[in-house]
Amino acid sequence: MGDESHRVATSDDIEVSAYLEIAKELHGEAAIAEEGLRPTPERETVVVIDFGSQYSMLIARRVRECRVYCELVPHDTPWQKIASLNPKGFILSGGPASVYDPGVPLAPSYVYESRLPVLGICYGMQVLTHQLGGQVASGSKHEYGHAILHLSATDTPLFANLPPSLPVWMSHGDQIMKLPPGFRALAYTDNSPISVMGNDNNIFGLQFHPEVVHTPHGKMILQNFLYEICGCKGNWTPSNFIAESIDRIKQQVGEGKVICALSGGVDSAVVATLIHRAINDQLTCIFVNNGLLRREESERVLNTFQRNLHMNVVYVDASERFLEQLRGVVDPEEKRHRIGEEFIRVFEEEASKLGKVDLLAQGTLYPDVIESTAAQTKVSAKIKTHHNVGGLPARMSLTLIEPLRNLFKDEVREVGLALGLPEDMIWRQPFPGPGLAIRIIGEVTKQRLEILRAADWIVMNEIKKAKLYRQLWQSFAVLTDVKSVGVMGDYRTYGYLVAIRAVTSEDAMTADWAHLPYDLLTRISNRIVNEVPGVNRVVYDITSKPPATIEWE
Ligand code: XMP
Repeated sequence: MGDESHRVATSDDIEVSAYLEIAKELHGEAAIAEEGLRPTPERETVVVIDFGSQYSMLIARRVRECRVYCELVPHDTPWQKIASLNPKGFILSGGPASVYDPGVPLAPSYVYESRLPVLGICYGMQVLTHQLGGQVASGSKHEYGHAILHLSATDTPLFANLPPSLPVWMSHGDQIMKLPPGFRALAYTDNSPISVMGNDNNIFGLQFHPEVVHTPHGKMILQNFLYEICGCKGNWTPSNFIAESIDRIKQQVGEGKVICALSGGVDSAVVATLIHRAINDQLTCIFVNNGLLRREESERVLNTFQRNLHMNVVYVDASERFLEQLRGVVDPEEKRHRIGEEFIRVFEEEASKLGKVDLLAQGTLYPDVIESTAAQTKVSAKIKTHHNVGGLPARMSLTLIEPLRNLFKDEVREVGLALGLPEDMIWRQPFPGPGLAIRIIGEVTKQRLEILRAADWIVMNEIKKAKLYRQLWQSFAVLTDVKSVGVMGDYRTYGYLVAIRAVTSEDAMTADWAHLPYDLLTRISNRIVNEVPGVNRVVYDITSKPPATIEWE
């Protein structure tokens, strides 16, 4: 889907509706229901076998950017699961191990027995070498960082459209000493005489990492493997995904009834819209206003889904209930817990008014799926309990429907745009489930919420005017519990301290404080102290994550 990013036009949607109209005329409604919307091309899949590299997920993303569907699977995945994907090729990821260490992960035999094309990356290349009869040794010089790759073979489709020399990113200790029988070296660097290898059965190895941005031609190399060697056509596009999903959703739901919690965020918006496309009024969305939203947020959500997209939306203004739950609570985790519990209660109450419901729609994404598999084997300290609505499916014992569970976030955005959702909803910065409650240090009260909403509105407004909104991962105001002395006109003031937080990030795991222009900070500060009663001082948070977190609580 990658190459179609930022596509706003919804020509495919027009095609779909035009197709529907014509099909209705020709065959009548019933025939269309049987046929589905339109034939979708068979999904081409490449399987990425994960040996634990920090870049494994990135490989999968790059493959998807080449418009080829792929799944990242653990190295011990059984053949039955792989066979069900009907793959066109394998990619073996990098990994921290050394092939001669005892008990290290190796490629399952089906990788070789299937006779499908294989691309081994870094450790993946060493695995190929070791298993196919070559020799791997600890390199005389470890290679980390930039290197120049010189192509020695001109006749391999893997190198189509590449210059004779190109910068690549290396990160390995071991290297190939002896090629396995039937292989030849295709490229070298100063430190690695065999930086790329290949045989006549479409098995290739790369010593460097094509998936990282420091290998600028890396995507072309991956694309060559996918298109020229695996024979993929690149049909993983938003419109094909939508058509395919609509068929699946119809099958899964049948005559059933689905409910979906709308949050105003991208994921739930796309899930709801996609499901609505498939089953129309069999879907009911429940939008709980917890009173902890940003200014105009609930109106915006209702406008989009109820008025423009004509979905069944049950709107519940539960602000008072949440405030009641939060009265006197200052501990951040306690706030999260209470908000999470109250959300479940409200949601359950509303759902029970709808009669028999069969499925609960959720906006689970692919990184969550991968991470939850990985997390089963990892132990990590709990910093914050982020997934505050996680209790919902368990409590309600409903079957889950998760149409986005194979998508990365950028793909969700593309699908959302292709579904015709407004750009400002698609490019909305992440907003935490507990909302403004974790941006108010200390007790959450109506008055303090109003102060924060007003300050936050100014931050958002100015950031958008400065055209920085999309570049920033998040930007917002925090209302602290500090009061300080100020002077306004001839009077002493004693008011709240507001902090501004703006960060850049790829995935919220790490973040840098954003170097916002001084004049923008000046405008924000002036406007807040002048326009928001009760605030007389503004500070800018210049801490990165780690050691700070993005939110203050
Ligand atoms: P931190 O503050 O841990 O946040 O650096 C990382 C990302 O997660 C969001 N966040 C939350 N999201 N419920 C959510 O749904 C939460 O309780 C929560 N706490 C933090 C935060 O906005 C950032 O994007």
